Amino acid sequence: MSLIISGGTVVTAQGRFQADVRVDGGKITALGQNLAQANDEIIDASGQHVLPGGIDVHTHLSMPSMGTVTCDDYYTGQVAAAMGGTTSHIDFCIQPKSSSLRAALDTWQGRASGQAVIDYGFHMAVTDPQPDVLDEIATLPEYGVTSIKLFLAYKDTLQVDDMAMFRCLERARDAGVLTLVHAENGDAIEVLMAEAVARGETAPKYHALTRPPELEAEATGRAIALAEVLGAPLYIVHLSCRPALARVREAQARGARVTAETCTQYFFFTKDDLDRPGFEGAKWVCSPPPREKEDQAALWAAVGDGALSVISTDHCPFRFDTQKSLGRDNFTLIPNGVPGIEERLMVLHQAGVRGGHFSLERFVALTATNPARSFGLGGVKGAIAPGHDADMVLWDMERPHTITAQTNHSAIDYSLYEGMEVRGTPVTVMIRGQKVVDQCELVAQRGSGQFLHRQRI
Ligand code: URP
Ligand code: ZN
Ligand code: ZN
Repeated sequence: MSLIISGGTVVTAQGRFQADVRVDGGKITALGQNLAQANDEIIDASGQHVLPGGIDVHTHLSMPSMGTVTCDDYYTGQVAAAMGGTTSHIDFCIQPKSSSLRAALDTWQGRASGQAVIDYGFHMAVTDPQPDVLDEIATLPEYGVTSIKLFLAYKDTLQVDDMAMFRCLERARDAGVLTLVHAENGDAIEVLMAEAVARGETAPKYHALTRPPELEAEATGRAIALAEVLGAPLYIVHLSCRPALARVREAQARGARVTAETCTQYFFFTKDDLDRPGFEGAKWVCSPPPREKEDQAALWAAVGDGALSVISTDHCPFRFDTQKSLGRDNFTLIPNGVPGIEERLMVLHQAGVRGGHFSLERFVALTATNPARSFGLGGVKGAIAPGHDADMVLWDMERPHTITAQTNHSAIDYSLYEGMEVRGTPVTVMIRGQKVVDQCELVAQRGSGQFLHRQRI
């Protein structure tokens, strides 16, 4: 007996067509017309679009940061993801100083195991690359971890210097591991922040003013230069602005192995949102900060023409009432990060597809197919094709929904998109052929999500 998703419009990165989808043992086994046979279980998808489940390659669940911990654990964060049509994510495992990478992975696995409702993998954030840790990079693929992340910002906590970056890039290249960088110049930002606070400039808007685009561009160009010398593959996370994008475009034109993502929030908000009345702007404090309208236009163009190949969330949720408030008198103490794992597909469909920036096929590429291919999940996730996991979203193109924290599923107490009206939402969501959301109701079993053992890059 097979599962048949019948009568929907299948959407891939290349096109769309009417087809039934047959699923056996959690895998897609056929696409075609009238596939149902006696005894098959049928899900009627007529009138709906069948999209590959979303893949969010940049999230921070249960992550200790700035004296607190992100408020979504692996259950609440993944329930929010599933309700928004995301079926896999890659979270950041952060190496505590002087810890081994293996020990850090064990800690992160302990947080996820028994909680997960969607499939998940880890990037390894290397914060303390001592010689034995550098040696360990070669072992990461054995554990299914084929990407490391380096922070060029967050002085004295997560930041690594150029020698460390160079060494990590080299080891990662040799191991078939992709290096991700948070590209901002943390040293210069540290000076600007201290000077601002000394002048009494403590409101949330100074977070944006002390992290200018030039410092993102400088770090982006520096990381690219080091990676190019080594011939190492490089992926720039959460790219937010025109000058950093220019560095990426120049590198790609030279044939360098450089890819980059942006994140949902950078299309919708600007630095002016950090200047909302009272302390409200703290909700938008993330790094890099939201920029200008002109940067938004450049990002829309870049996800359209391929300079940016992935849109992720950087979901890093801190509650407004008890966590963002830590920086009420000093913006440097506001935990950095914004939520968005549940809203990503809906708001991008609304503004990106309905707004005429890209096609539904490109939407699928940016939110599922490219993330899978970039992170060692090609052939397994991110596409509706035989041999792939049956991770699918039945998407109702016309269903209206008003985004609000009241009905969202994250543990956070606000949404950046509060009150935004969208038309087009996930209705039913499947992972490996099992429903996790049925007719907009959560039906996932806690612990059913599986660890993603990813291929070398
Ligand atoms: O502000 C942000 N982006 N917080 C999450 C950590 C990071 O830099 O990705
Ligand atoms: Zn970052
Ligand atoms: Zn992040």
